[in-house]
Amino acid sequence: MNDICVRWQCTGVKGQREIWEREYASPDPLWRGPAPNTVPGEGRVLELGCGNGKTLSSLVRHSGEVIGLDHSINALHQCPPGPSLVRGDILRLPFQDERFDTVLLHHVLQHLYADERELAIGEVRRVLRPGGTLSIRTFSVRDMRFGKGEEVERNTFRRGNGLIYHYFEADELRALLSPLVEMELRESVVETRFAKGSVRAELVGTFQR
Ligand SMILES: C[S@@+](CC[C@H](N)C(=O)[O-])C[C@H]1O[C@@H](n2cnc3c(N)ncnc32)[C@H](O)[C@@H]1O
Repeated sequence: MNDICVRWQCTGVKGQREIWEREYASPDPLWRGPAPNTVPGEGRVLELGCGNGKTLSSLVRHSGEVIGLDHSINALHQCPPGPSLVRGDILRLPFQDERFDTVLLHHVLQHLYADERELAIGEVRRVLRPGGTLSIRTFSVRDMRFGKGEEVERNTFRRGNGLIYHYFEADELRALLSPLVEMELRESVVETRFAKGSVRAELVGTFQR
């Protein structure tokens, strides 16, 4: 089992963390699926909201330091061996300024409320070194699950299990990440087997500090 460093400064005011703990404790936890082919540059890599390590598992051959951070202890216990693991809160990162060459934010921003998204991106900018890279993936408004659940903020829906899902427009994401510099932002649309015309749609991007 990995050592898990606890740098716990969680605000946890909106009750999402408890739901994540419950989901990861279930015998069939969320977010298994295939790992994306993630190839970061050199140096220190931080994955925020690493969950049970789907993306971390694609980084095991990375030659530099890899750190995964999540607020769910149940998720961290399921991560693959190798990366350093930190239990912490994305809204108050326990790292010094400009420490990382690459930050990965894959399917995490979509689970934060609007004010939390602003805080999280402020923290990403702070811990990235000048010239460092943010890799981002998040659902877009074209995703087949858009509109499912109760709308609690614009384009943000609370599903039956209590987790919130925000769906981005590309310009909204650009505005949130500014002044990071856009290197690439595209929409990946993949037809699913569930029903004709139903798609999994995500924004996939790389931004530089
Ligand atoms: C959809 S999962 C993504 C997991 C992983 N990035 C992947 O692509 O497989 C979202 C993760 O973000 C974590 N998370 C959500 N809000 C967080 C916060 N404020 N601080 C730390 N982790 C958070 C959840 O616990 C969950 O593991």
